Amino acid sequence: MTFLRIVLFSLATMFAFTLFANILPQVQSDPPKTEEINESTLDVAGQIAWGQRLFSGRGTCTLCHNDLGRAPDLLQMDLATAFAERIADARYEGEAAGQSGAGAIETYLRESMNAPSAFVVAGFGKKGTNDAESPMPRVDAAPLSLTETETNALIAYLQDLAGEEVTVPLPSAADAQDGADGDGDEAAEEEGPSTSAEDIMDRLGCAGCHDLFGSEADIGPDLAVAAQRLQPEGLRTAILDPNAIIAEGYEADFMPDDYAEQLWVSELNVMIDYLMQLEGAETEQ
Ligand code: HEC
Ligand code: HEC
Repeated sequence: MTFLRIVLFSLATMFAFTLFANILPQVQSDPPKTEEINESTLDVAGQIAWGQRLFSGRGTCTLCHNDLGRAPDLLQMDLATAFAERIADARYEGEAAGQSGAGAIETYLRESMNAPSAFVVAGFGKKGTNDAESPMPRVDAAPLSLTETETNALIAYLQDLAGEEVTVPLPSAADAQDGADGDGDEAAEEEGPSTSAEDIMDRLGCAGCHDLFGSEADIGPDLAVAAQRLQPEGLRTAILDPNAIIAEGYEADFMPDDYAEQLWVSELNVMIDYLMQLEGAETEQ
């Protein structure tokens, strides 16, 4: 009798679990891949195409650069005119000052990525800084940590999009070798869900907007505090359907709403566990 109860209980649990797993939005998985450089990226067309994939993939640029007004909509603007205007702006004191042509645009783009606060496009600065500080994370440091070769590919893509000459160096065979050496464990990750909250959140760009892993980003609210209020269920909603609840003092449409398509169910749970444990750390101290 007891045995049967256990069996029935197990079956019921399994059933509930299956049901639950299926109710979740179809959370699989087209995780942005870390690409290795291969022969086809070694010419200008390949480099531009690689830059385009980085822009919407691992670079997480489209999280902010889109038509929602968080950042200049690089895919819609007249880039050649915009970049020339920035460099000629009376407030501009960066490295491209005094340069001209495609080379100036390369300098401006590299600076925009590696030192975003060198020049902040009017109206897009961090709140309260009077456009002195950019909310954009620098791409050459954690969490993005793009290599110079990747940054060059992004510049090539944006130069091409602006209708300008591509002036950055092509990736070399040596870069390709580095890429192959360095990306070993990331390649392994692509095969299945990651179990590291930091890897998952790096991939999804959470730390670019929230203060996570020491990023000190403040576009989005403090998640240690949010976890206490929301609990696992609320966190799940806040991540999968950000506009369902808008954190007080923040605007809708800021946080990307397509994470469901980029996550494994288990990865969502790893993130939620991580965020809940942030709460634990806070209340204990
Ligand atoms: C967390 C949001 C965010 C992310 C992620 C982000 N940016 Fe930005 N970016 C901004 C904001 C806001 C500005 C405008 C303020 C400024 O000038 O720094 C900006 C400015 C820029 C500019 C200058 C635009 C202009 O009109 O002059 C470039 C170029 C740029 N970003 C490229 C990138 C690239 C490439 C990536 C991905 C590797 C990226 N950004 C990722 C928020 C972001
Ligand atoms: C482009 C910036 C941006 C990115 C990237 C981003 N968020 Fe957010 N997030 C926000 C903003 C702004 C809010 C507040 C508005 C809202 O509630 O939708 C927010 C709200 C939240 C909340 C609710 C907080 C509260 O107090 O109600 C959670 C939880 C959260 N984000 C988790 C994440 C996680 C996890 C990731 C990565 C998978 C992520 N966010 C990526 C900007 C971002």
